[in-house]
Amino acid sequence: MKRNEFFKTVLGTFAVANIPGFTRMSTGDNNSVPSWPTANPDDEQFWKVLRAQFPLTDERAYLNTGGLGASPYVVIDAVKAKMDELEKVSETGHTEELWKDIKTAASLLFGCETEELAFTRNATESINIVCNGLPLKRGDEMITTTHEHVGNAVPWLALLQREGIVIKLFEPSVDSAQENVDRIAKLVTKRTRLISVPHATTTTGLILPIKSLSELARSKNIWLFVDGAQTAGMFPFNVHELGCDAYATSGHKWLLGPKETGLLYVRKDMLDVIQPKFAGAYSDDGFDLAKGTLKFHPTAQRYEFGTVSIPLRFGLGTAIKFMQRIGMENVWKRDRALSTRLFKGLQEIPYVKVLSPAHDADRSALITMQHEKLPYLDLQNHLNKFKLRTRGVSEGGVNGLRISTHIYNSFEEIDRVLEGTRTAWKG
Ligand SMILES: Cc1ncc(COP(=O)(O)O)c(C=O)c1O
Repeated sequence: MKRNEFFKTVLGTFAVANIPGFTRMSTGDNNSVPSWPTANPDDEQFWKVLRAQFPLTDERAYLNTGGLGASPYVVIDAVKAKMDELEKVSETGHTEELWKDIKTAASLLFGCETEELAFTRNATESINIVCNGLPLKRGDEMITTTHEHVGNAVPWLALLQREGIVIKLFEPSVDSAQENVDRIAKLVTKRTRLISVPHATTTTGLILPIKSLSELARSKNIWLFVDGAQTAGMFPFNVHELGCDAYATSGHKWLLGPKETGLLYVRKDMLDVIQPKFAGAYSDDGFDLAKGTLKFHPTAQRYEFGTVSIPLRFGLGTAIKFMQRIGMENVWKRDRALSTRLFKGLQEIPYVKVLSPAHDADRSALITMQHEKLPYLDLQNHLNKFKLRTRGVSEGGVNGLRISTHIYNSFEEIDRVLEGTRTAWKG
């Protein structure tokens, strides 16, 4: 089935009305995209049609969305079309109208206001804006996990080296959400200024109890920052309900946007707390070099600066609308159906230990396993023979193999992982 036919037939007529060619969205598109209401997570036929909307080859099962998401044709087409359009006239394409359109789509996805979102190049840049913008000084303490991705470890370590902040670590428990709240609470002292946690860990896919942590943070008068690199586009959430002060994410993982796209949410009342350390065109709302005056932009746009790639941003907007059209509830149900099959299947295999949480509420679509007889690299090499793209996990000394399950994956691919893992050890 062709791309446009897919959206006409599978997504229903209302969908077509709102998507004047999903392949070429214009800035005038309606942002409140109603999602397709009836996706059955177990309907392989439907998800096969959806898979055909991606250039991914059938031969290899791509199971590393946690590393990088595969973009659908509509996103790739949007980037190409925008680049063609702009190169014909050699313009940047910067318009507040387009930025607002994309941010409005993102704000509907994250449950925040458009003014609370900034475009970035990746989750790491979003993290750096928060890390370097918060007024932290020598001796101030922050609490984070021992399972941080390099992107949420190095910026804080750089701050430790430069400014002398103190980093306190806790080992995240996959057994109990409350245990994680308790472990953090035990580390809080009078010097604690910040809790920085991932929404889902990169290591075992553990979902941390952000709402409870924001209650804890508020009661102690400390900030809560969430690294959502692994969660935007995986399941629905509302940042206002989560209650965190800032939330960083990538556009190029579960959201399936173009590579080198990211977003940062900063709650309105935190905009004057997190200082823009990099600034330039678009960060300001008026300046006068001669008088030495500068007014920052009233919104999170203050964290943006200089010339950017409009084709990439346009592609990100298209990706967000693509996900909204499928519906984040539907996406999550499918991701969950695939990962649950994998989680349960792996538990039946001798010598395999599943490191991801057993409680449904704490488990994401990242499933990590260890083989008692094999180092993870050997297991990964064995699975490569089954044309399975997985990701090794070394963070936090985990030594596991991670499998991400997203909307373009199938039960057949999950069964291939199970078969490959079953045959990895012949002893
Ligand atoms: C938890 C977490 N944080 C941050 C990052 C870095 O993301 P980016 O490459 O978009 O900067 C990753 C990437 O895998 C991640 O898993």
